[in-house]
Amino acid sequence: MARKIMRHTIQVTLEKNSYPVSVGSGLLQEPAIFMPHVHGHQVCIVTQKNIADFYLAKVLSAFSEYQCGVIFLPEGEQHKNLTEWGKIMTILLEKGHDRSATLIALGGGMVGDMTGFAAACYQRGVNYIQMPTTLIAQVDAAIGGKTGVNHSLGKNMIGAFYQPQCVVADIDTLQTLPPREFHAGLAEVIKYALIRDIDFLDWLENHIADVLSRKKEALLHMITTCVSHKAALVTADERDHGVRRLLNLGHTFAHAIETLSSYESILHGEAVAMGLCLAAQHSVNLGWLTTTDLERIQSLLLTCHLPCELPLHLTLEQLMTAMKKDKKNQHGKLTLILLKKLGEGVCV
Ligand code: GLY
Repeated sequence: MARKIMRHTIQVTLEKNSYPVSVGSGLLQEPAIFMPHVHGHQVCIVTQKNIADFYLAKVLSAFSEYQCGVIFLPEGEQHKNLTEWGKIMTILLEKGHDRSATLIALGGGMVGDMTGFAAACYQRGVNYIQMPTTLIAQVDAAIGGKTGVNHSLGKNMIGAFYQPQCVVADIDTLQTLPPREFHAGLAEVIKYALIRDIDFLDWLENHIADVLSRKKEALLHMITTCVSHKAALVTADERDHGVRRLLNLGHTFAHAIETLSSYESILHGEAVAMGLCLAAQHSVNLGWLTTTDLERIQSLLLTCHLPCELPLHLTLEQLMTAMKKDKKNQHGKLTLILLKKLGEGVCV
């Protein structure tokens, strides 16, 4: 019997700096996937202790002939700030990394965003590779070159667009992801279905049991589908002035929820799930979605163990005030992504 193909490569095609996103099983043990994107002889892997325990040795083994450093970031979105970012800079300088160095982000979205922003700024720009190990990073954050850190006055307020050399999404890393984080990532997956792929929504509903039990074939199909959508949107609109903004469905609400919750009690994906429900409810109010559509969305989110209601300590008024500060607003006008119908997002 022929063995099933367990990997795919999707190209992010840009005017400058096009790059491949590899999705599959066993990729971290295959240097041939990422070594062609390492130039020079200095590498620095940025990661976190909990991820390093499982995956650092695999990646390190490819670099025995290189000057290869490791930087550990603390865990938690509250550490995604200029202080920790500055520590990366200091270590790179102390270890004598030059402009030919390649940084490798081995971890979730926080590691990827901070490493990418360090790469964008270190000696005015060095190469970096994304090796996302969480679902949220594999389907969204690691692709598209959004890098940066939070400020106490807002999430991702300091950063740069800076594309990686390649993205290596090894789906085996999802087997060690804590359930709550895996479920949070599914909010971003559902987002793609809602903004541009009704068939994918059907697929998710029909295969959710396989997804929740993390069957490899289901994960490969699901992540490849999301990456293909992300690559298409980034290719069409690298700088986020047009269609790429559809990716923010639920996110203006979510960022406000996170800011008001001080990033600690709630995961990004959980806030996105609440935001998807609020955006869908708004779309119902405008007559674009039916209540049956809204219930369909809520039912899928609940099956994925995701919240559909705001936390008790938050009111809609507080949320609206925080949303007015979102960086996606222009000329003081609140920008929202809503749904014209299931599978069709719109920016209003
Ligand atoms: N995560 C949204 C974007 O990359 O545009």
